[in-house]
Amino acid sequence: MNTCITGLQWGDEGKGKVVDILAEKSDIVVRYSGGANAGHTVVVGDNKFALHLLPSGSVRPETICVIGNGVVLDPAGIIEEIETLEQQGLSLNNRLFISENAHVVLDYHKKEDQYREDSLGKNKIGTTIRGIGPCYADKIGRSFAVRLGDFRNLDKLSDKLKIIVEYKNKLFAALYDSEPLSFDELFEKCKIYADRLIGFITDTTEYLHDSITHGKSVLFEGAQGALLDLDHGTFPFVTSSNSSSLGMPAGSGVPAKMVDEFIGVAKAYTTRVGAGPFPTEQDNEVGQYIRDKGNEYGTTTGRPRRCGWFDSVAVSYTTTIGSIDSIAMMHLDTLTGLKEINICKAYKINGRQTSFFPANIDRLANVECVYETVPGWEEDITDVKDFHDLPLNAQNYVILIEELTREPITIIGVGPKRNQTIFR
Ligand code: GDP
Ligand code: IMO
Ligand code: MG
Repeated sequence: MNTCITGLQWGDEGKGKVVDILAEKSDIVVRYSGGANAGHTVVVGDNKFALHLLPSGSVRPETICVIGNGVVLDPAGIIEEIETLEQQGLSLNNRLFISENAHVVLDYHKKEDQYREDSLGKNKIGTTIRGIGPCYADKIGRSFAVRLGDFRNLDKLSDKLKIIVEYKNKLFAALYDSEPLSFDELFEKCKIYADRLIGFITDTTEYLHDSITHGKSVLFEGAQGALLDLDHGTFPFVTSSNSSSLGMPAGSGVPAKMVDEFIGVAKAYTTRVGAGPFPTEQDNEVGQYIRDKGNEYGTTTGRPRRCGWFDSVAVSYTTTIGSIDSIAMMHLDTLTGLKEINICKAYKINGRQTSFFPANIDRLANVECVYETVPGWEEDITDVKDFHDLPLNAQNYVILIEELTREPITIIGVGPKRNQTIFR
């Protein structure tokens, strides 16, 4: 049984928690896209792990972790994560496999990310400054790209990096009037990265196919969310990879038809970090209530997340493009205490009602949300284990979202811990 978990909104839906729970029954967990822009939180007892590059399965000592070719890998970041887990008694030796074809994020990518954002001023994307866009741009451009497999041959890497650093220095000096980067310093760092990571580098496509042939079950862990997908999200306010489940085959080498179940993760409301359109945003006391109660601050950057109502137009769109079979709806507990809750059930664009999400931001800028208002609930639901023990209004809220999205909601989050989960 192979399963793919992806975010259905603008990221931070609670994918880390869902992957951690489902990893119990999986042999292998695979990250297939994005990089250290992701921040996946897993709570195990009193321990809270914030994972950026390592798959969320890494907190389970028996689980094999794969970082696929579609990921852009910050070597310093992954080494730090490996060491942090090691200090907590979780060794990654012999259970972490990183694709030789994953592209490497280096210092000049992070610098360029910052320079580009600074030069956009108020029009900036609000990136995480983790070098994601510039690294994927180099991957697409090919000429100045470094892949993890290049760490196997340091002489060849040195020749390649000399050319890249010279090119980047000319570019940055001309465009951003910046100080030159030192090739020697960068190459010294690469030698350390190579030494530390060489044992993990492999052909992950071969490894995954071999494992599946031998009956292993694989869980694919999406990063970001489908509305941040480079092609299908709210471009240009997106990330630089196919973060919807459409990116899973390309980012892992495993075709989608080998996946038995696609589970989409959505919050019981909506959040977004960074700039860009957000039709149901509540930049008011409701948004603040959700932010405080749901602790809605970025796992990677600490930025306050923008908060708003559940948008069934957006989620119906992302379940459609993602061939989603069922939804895991997290953070139902966060809505406790609101007298009334709104759900966006349609958009009006220039007076015309539509239920199909327009990903084009010019059209999205003109949408007016059509809401259904439902009564909230007061009872604490954080210990509820059975759907039928939820307050009736909470049950009805879940059922209404199922009707609007035409998807079954099979997992419900009522708190950050593993056991604060309802299965239906
Ligand atoms: P991800 O990027 O999709 O993995 O999500 P993040 O980890 O960035 O953000 C989700 C946050 O919500 C984390 O702090 C989780 O511990 C927390 N969380 C996950 N599920 C629930 C839930 O059902 N209720 C509450 N209150 N918190 C949750
Ligand atoms: P997880 O996996 C939420 C957002 C950034 C910015 C845009 C582009 O934790 O859900 P980038 O650094 O990728 O070039 O930034 O994408 N973004 C995320 N928002 N969760 C994430 O990951 C995100 N990864 C990127 O805030 O708006
Ligand atoms: Mg996150």
